[in-house]
Amino acid sequence: MTDPIIQVYNLSKQFGNFKAVKDVSFSIEAGEIFGFLGPNGSGKTTTINILTGLARPTSGSIRITGQDGIMNIKRVQQIIGIVPDESNLYEDLSGFDNLVFCASLYGISKNNRETRAKLLLEQFGLADAGNRPFKAYSKGMKRKLTFAAGIIHEPKILFLDEPTTGIDVENARQIRKLLTFSPWLKPEDSKIHDSMP
Ligand SMILES: Nc1ncnc2c1ncn2[C@@H]1O[C@H](COP(=O)(O)OP(=O)(O)O)[C@@H](O)[C@H]1O
Ligand SMILES: [Mg+2]
Repeated sequence: MTDPIIQVYNLSKQFGNFKAVKDVSFSIEAGEIFGFLGPNGSGKTTTINILTGLARPTSGSIRITGQDGIMNIKRVQQIIGIVPDESNLYEDLSGFDNLVFCASLYGISKNNRETRAKLLLEQFGLADAGNRPFKAYSKGMKRKLTFAAGIIHEPKILFLDEPTTGIDVENARQIRKLLTFSPWLKPEDSKIHDSMP
């Protein structure tokens, strides 16, 4: 048996006197779809921010692919993708240019950036909108482009924060379909866990 791809031990995050994440522990196997459920304000985004290196925990430890997820976060960031709850893309850039820019941030070679951007626009049904500015996209289109940007570097691990909130049923279905068809996820391995109280 292989080690879990993510192991979280007694993770806590305090903002002043307020404990946003309280002693959370869980582990995730490779190929698993792990649902991190909980009401608003229960610490889901804060936990994702810690796991992706956007915030530091107050205490606890993390192992991601066997590496220290706090000390070695820069290296770990190369193999993780994040689709944040609110888009982090540039409003004035076109969909295509946003993807090419994200690809450059991940060090993808110049030739491959454009190929990858075009392929993802097609896969997400955004090929016709590729040259329009992001600000002209509908909510669902924005969500899909944000999703595409999160997987531009073909990450081993993908974090999705509220992936289908605020988008219509058809787009939500498309996103779920894309997830289960992703090369790094085998649908038969998918499990849903309720990890929050
Ligand atoms: N930077 C911050 N400073 C102070 N409090 C924060 C900060 N970020 C989050 N919180 C608080 O931590 C709690 C958990 O927030 P969050 O992780 O966003 O919850 P969720 O994603 O589950 O809705 C909330 O009460 C929120 O107000
Ligand atoms: Mg949240």
